[in-house]
Amino acid sequence: MQKICVIGLGYIGLPTAAVFARAGFSVVGVDVNKQVVERLNKGEIIIEEVGLPEVVKEVVDSGRLRASLEPEEADAFIISVPTPIHEDCTANVDYVRSATEAVVPYLKKGDVVIVESTIPPRTMDDVVAPIIEAAGFNPKEDVAIAHCPERVLPGRILIELVENTRIVGGLTPEATTKAANVYRQIVTGDVIETEAVTAEMSKLMENTFRDVNIALANELAKISARLGVDAHKVIELANKHPRVNIHQPGPGVGGHCLAVDPYFIVEKAPEEALMIQLSRDINNSMPDFVIEQIIKLTSELKEPKIALFGLTYKGNIDDVRESPAIEIVEKVLANPRYDVRVHDPHVRDEQVPFPLVSFEEAVKGANLLVVLADHNEFKMIDKNVLLSEMETPVVFDTKNCTNLEQEEGLTVYRIGDVTGLQAIAVKPINS
Ligand SMILES: NC(=O)c1ccc[n+]([C@@H]2O[C@H](COP(=O)([O-])OP(=O)(O)OC[C@H]3O[C@@H](n4cnc5c(N)ncnc54)[C@H](O)[C@@H]3O)[C@@H](O)[C@H]2O)c1
Repeated sequence: MQKICVIGLGYIGLPTAAVFARAGFSVVGVDVNKQVVERLNKGEIIIEEVGLPEVVKEVVDSGRLRASLEPEEADAFIISVPTPIHEDCTANVDYVRSATEAVVPYLKKGDVVIVESTIPPRTMDDVVAPIIEAAGFNPKEDVAIAHCPERVLPGRILIELVENTRIVGGLTPEATTKAANVYRQIVTGDVIETEAVTAEMSKLMENTFRDVNIALANELAKISARLGVDAHKVIELANKHPRVNIHQPGPGVGGHCLAVDPYFIVEKAPEEALMIQLSRDINNSMPDFVIEQIIKLTSELKEPKIALFGLTYKGNIDDVRESPAIEIVEKVLANPRYDVRVHDPHVRDEQVPFPLVSFEEAVKGANLLVVLADHNEFKMIDKNVLLSEMETPVVFDTKNCTNLEQEEGLTVYRIGDVTGLQAIAVKPINS
């Protein structure tokens, strides 16, 4: 195996291309985005991922990784294009379809075609294989077609691409083994062989498991608000049971995986996937739960100044896709009563449709600071700056992540412990 063609150079495709190139493969990365291609050929990247700029620079400088707008002949093709959902929450597999069509003119017998994109069950059989068949190949004999879902954690992608267990499911056992052998050359974790549809479902159930469990924690946060209980304490104590692991509540579930993948199952089995759909609904309701608390907290102020901290769907990354924080910010911004400042040290201005300000600008004169992402920066906020700069030093931590503790002059609420917010709304300083 010498040459690999990676289609789609985003958060998954680019690190994958870089890791194969670092292992000595000749890799051509393909993207429809001209900027991605031009920057990559200069050894530069436009996404944030720990260690990736250095690895990309090394493999581009050494000539092992190049970028192109068009695929080229290769021994293996790896497709890692987006699989978003439509407005009606059904899967949009158009990118997978067009990436497969783009590869077909460069295919030859004996090649391997792997889809890494997360896809609804049966997509390999019903979407990918027919395209390859229509080009004149026997999809079960001429080409090894397989799905190898990606399960890396942003922020640790370069490590997990190599160390995680990989699931490879082909259209035939031979295709599976051939595709698995591609990964065995870069992966130190196990590479497990299965069928395509099992690989598709296993990936979807991994994220669905997490989504359903987060929904349970979020439901607990809401129940706790009604009953006057501290959900964080409840979780801590319940998790002392050796077989219980309740997840943490938060402002909602975002990102391209957890907030999307469960719908791929609901779409294919709507009558059976009841808990999965309900969990999506619960998690989707959390931004409004956060807004409700903000309204209660600021009900006694005339023109509350609100600092919103963190826009990404999880901490220490720059990815704002499907982020509940964005929904919260947009809803707060839409309320003319509020004077809003938004701060996120990981997000660039061009990523969002509203202005971003520095930490200092955001907290100056603020009545309420709402933490929406668990960036490391927010785990070590200098409380003295809040005490001296905020008009009313009140913090609402929706990720239960800050180092800030309730003390004289500083009020701290956490998502699972909002009892009595209304009764102790922030008072105007001259009241
Ligand atoms: N980001 C993650 O953490 C993660 C984790 C596991 C699985 N996944 C899955 O991996 C897949 C890719 O996700 P991502 O985060 O890398 O997406 P991304 O949006 O970061 O990158 C996708 C890239 O594909 C390019 N592209 C789109 N259509 C193309 C085409 N026809 N030909 C060539 N390039 C094309 C886009 O321009 C973009 O650069 C998705 O199915 C996603 O669900 C992502």
